Amino acid sequence: MSNYNFSKNFHWGVSTSAFQIEGAYDKEGKGPSIWDEFTQKNKTILNNHHAKVACDFYHKYEEDISLMKDLGIPNFRFSISWSRIFPDGYGRVNQKGVDFYDRIIDQCIEKGIEPWVTLYHWDLPQKIELRGGWTNRRIVDWFYDFAAFCASHFGDRVKRWMVLNEPMVFTGAGYFLGIHAPGRRGLKNFIPAVHHAVLCQAEGGRIIKELQPDSKVGTTFSCSLIEPFRYENKKDERAAKRVDALTNRLFIEPALGLGYPIGDLPFLKRIEKYIRHGDETRMQFDFDFIGIQNYTRELIKYSAFTPYLKAKLIESRKRNVPVTDMGWEVYPKSLAEMAKKFSAYEKVKEVIITENGAAFSDEVKNGNIYDKSRVDYITQNLKYLKQVNACTNKIGGYFVWSLLDNFEWAEGYRPRFGLVHVDFKTLERTPKLSALWYKKTIEIHSESSKSGKILENNPILSIQK
Ligand code: NOJ
Repeated sequence: MSNYNFSKNFHWGVSTSAFQIEGAYDKEGKGPSIWDEFTQKNKTILNNHHAKVACDFYHKYEEDISLMKDLGIPNFRFSISWSRIFPDGYGRVNQKGVDFYDRIIDQCIEKGIEPWVTLYHWDLPQKIELRGGWTNRRIVDWFYDFAAFCASHFGDRVKRWMVLNEPMVFTGAGYFLGIHAPGRRGLKNFIPAVHHAVLCQAEGGRIIKELQPDSKVGTTFSCSLIEPFRYENKKDERAAKRVDALTNRLFIEPALGLGYPIGDLPFLKRIEKYIRHGDETRMQFDFDFIGIQNYTRELIKYSAFTPYLKAKLIESRKRNVPVTDMGWEVYPKSLAEMAKKFSAYEKVKEVIITENGAAFSDEVKNGNIYDKSRVDYITQNLKYLKQVNACTNKIGGYFVWSLLDNFEWAEGYRPRFGLVHVDFKTLERTPKLSALWYKKTIEIHSESSKSGKILENNPILSIQK
């Protein structure tokens, strides 16, 4: 192991999202979200799974927060369900929903766990979707009100905010490919959705900071190391550049004042139609930190058959490389490369890994789950990340996706990402080996950053099956 280490203020944590864990989809005044609707009506979700109960975090949050405390996890990232607070998307407030998040935040603080709140993790109120969802520019006002409400109500206790979760994924999968809620397709939906999400990202950040000047405000981006399939092949290289602009640059660059990457992504020129006077300034916000979420890399080949992008992804499963249960290549240098790429923007002050982790089919044997593959995955990712941090000094934290096995969108409950196993019949939680290993890793880290000594060996790894 290298001699590099993270700073003593490094934030170790776990990430979750409301729709994927809460359940209680219609309890105590919650309004429906696009994911409630999509899972009910759409037949493309694996095994027709839905999240009516999910991990039942709505009722089991005390147990889960205690579990985090026992596991020594100092930071908990979760999201607020917009339609639990505003059942119609705007206007009337559902006090019971507000009370629920008050309880979570208070419990966290009582147990010494810092709450990190994401405002939007894909579960748009269905009432807003009925009015055009992300394609309707009025969403900027509705989102602003939601952000303002959350910042003024929870902001006395929540000091860490993330405005949006992975805008590229919810606009791309939800409004272009139609494989995520609300299941819309085509550029005519995607392009306006992108522009409105970019505006919300900045306006949301601005209002939180205005109402809570001592808070730290960030937003999160999905990202992947994009490489040409055939090196030295000009067509593949150019295709990879286009995919990189779409995957990694589309949402951060307008926020940093660099505009949309139209030069490298010509079809994006259509976005100009939606840009109004003053938008270039409104799109910008000086985030305190940028959250990046990475799982793998992608190899890209030129393809004349793919509309707009003229590029296609080479599936990892066909390349005979190690993959996770998502079919994603295990390629730990990808996270480090992305951390480097995002740190390289001059205006980015701090990069926090707000998600990283892996799905493997973990089996319970004699009450234990020996998920060595997950431990290896995280260990390798952290190893390269430390090396990048030694050069950039901008990496401020690492959050594992996820605390619990949960509802993995179009893939239902099949992929298991948790440090803690969930039996979806009984809802029983069982910490996996990786949870114990993570606890020890955090302990070792804080000890070594205090003493200045490098203590890299995690004894948990010597536990035998
Ligand atoms: C990104 C998303 O934010 C999260 O909701 C999802 O479950 C994980 N990645 C894994 O796919």
